Amino acid sequence: MSTLEIKGLHVEIEGKEILKGVDLTINTNEIHAVMGPNGTGKSTLASAIMGHPKYEVTAGTVTLDGEDVLEMEVDERAKAGLFLAMQYPSEISGVTNADFLRSAINSQREEGDEVSLMKFIRELDSKMETLEMDQEMAQRYLNEGFSGGEKKRNEILQLMMLKPKFAILDEIDSGLDIDALKVVSKGVNEMRGENFGCLIITHYQRLLNYITPDKVHVMMQGRVVKSGGPELAQKLEAQGYDWIKEELGIEDETVGQEA
Ligand SMILES: Nc1ncnc2c1ncn2[C@@H]1O[C@H](COP(=O)(O)OP(=O)(O)OP(=O)(O)O)[C@@H](O)[C@H]1O
Ligand SMILES: [Mg+2]
Repeated sequence: MSTLEIKGLHVEIEGKEILKGVDLTINTNEIHAVMGPNGTGKSTLASAIMGHPKYEVTAGTVTLDGEDVLEMEVDERAKAGLFLAMQYPSEISGVTNADFLRSAINSQREEGDEVSLMKFIRELDSKMETLEMDQEMAQRYLNEGFSGGEKKRNEILQLMMLKPKFAILDEIDSGLDIDALKVVSKGVNEMRGENFGCLIITHYQRLLNYITPDKVHVMMQGRVVKSGGPELAQKLEAQGYDWIKEELGIEDETVGQEA
């Protein structure tokens, strides 16, 4: 079993504090959902874990099986087994999807241990079939001209090919039609197992109908303010966030002006 542990994480962007002490522990074989209103720090948490240069960690720790993640370069974090599907995946012109994936896989392997082209193609074909993706998507430039839904599917394709220990999926469900939502969920559910843990950032119970989380966390004011089981997401769907704010005496849930 592997563990990703976030403790007392404080993060600033351009001198403004966004995360104000996030505590969260995920083990492999677990799927956690992070929910919360807009502007409460969810994407910032994802970027900080992955080492986005704009996000400065001012306090706290992130460890993967006891190893200090914050000390690692971005590529070392990927090599250690961390993966982020971004809320807004970027387009890279001139690099095909297949080439990108193959070099991403090989950059995580030792020299001389590169994946064979045949094996790579066989696996790529099979995963694309699972995700009901058109084979020609492999030869298109990475995300260029991909529809919103195609980009999200493509993020899951990367996930399935790279097989990270821990994946953070930031609004992987946004903009997906119902069939795509099912396909993407199928991909994530296929990853479930002893060597995989996942943090799903989402606004909607809808996704969690297909991917049942083990734990659900709510972020407000740059912290995890409440955690529970799948029933917490159902309650949020039915009742919104006001009851949590009342319970905790929070007036403004965003990271802007703290009460
Ligand atoms: N690069 C940045 N520069 C300036 N402010 C930023 C930057 N990134 C995030 N912020 C600010 O930090 C706050 C939290 O943003 P974040 O994207 O983490 O929210 P979120 O919880 O993911 O919201 P949403 O549900 O809308 O995606 C916001 O007020 C946002 O404007
Ligand atoms: Mg976000």
